[in-house]
Amino acid sequence: MIQKSINNPVFFKKYGFCLYYNKDIKRNISLIKKKFTNNFKSRFKSSQNRNLNIIKRFNGEISINKIFFDKNLLNFIKKLGVKYPVQTGPVVTHYSSNDKTSKSYGLGLHQDWPSMCTSINGVVIWFNINNYNHQHKNNLGLQLYKNFKKNYLFKTLKSKNDINFISEDIVEKNNLIDCNPKNEVLIMSTFCVHRTIKNKNLSKKYWRLGISARFDDLRCKKWNKNNYVSAYSTSVNRDLYKKFFHSL
Ligand SMILES: [Fe+2]
Repeated sequence: MIQKSINNPVFFKKYGFCLYYNKDIKRNISLIKKKFTNNFKSRFKSSQNRNLNIIKRFNGEISINKIFFDKNLLNFIKKLGVKYPVQTGPVVTHYSSNDKTSKSYGLGLHQDWPSMCTSINGVVIWFNINNYNHQHKNNLGLQLYKNFKKNYLFKTLKSKNDINFISEDIVEKNNLIDCNPKNEVLIMSTFCVHRTIKNKNLSKKYWRLGISARFDDLRCKKWNKNNYVSAYSTSVNRDLYKKFFHSL
């Protein structure tokens, strides 16, 4: 089913998500995988904290931004209704593995809009790199709920780590679509319900890195009325430098 969605605005309008492909993006995704493997993953040590810092530094890798600011991709999201795209928040990376760095990290069913509170026609652009075959039946991609309700917030329950999740009971399992594209990016409405696929049986040697950015619409009337608020903010740790004060 997901293959039918490639470069398909009609599909997006119905289901709240679609894949987007062009040759530059395909080439860049494979370059990004090489860069992560050779220059970032190779710096991992036993400290989880260090490794998570390295993953965060990867957010700033220049070739990642080349994907999100691909001219044709931005033109395509205009066709999906994001008339004047502006980026909300930084690039976000989610590292999933059963290793000590990730500890099987993955998010349950949720919508992204509550963590943004921005325009109502904004989209999340997401892609995936990993060290296994994308067709692997035990992949660690995403699942998307195809029963899309535009501008609708599902009821949520609070979890241990303070993130609101949608109860599994209200989602029919056969309406969850596996999504783990190799050469394409996923574009989804911020109201699309989705979750990370977790698989505790997968070998620790496998990892997947989801990379995403959010684009809102400056021309959204509701966002204008809400004075362009955003749940994202920049914070600076003003104490971090202190331990280096006499030793640099
Ligand atoms: Fe999400």
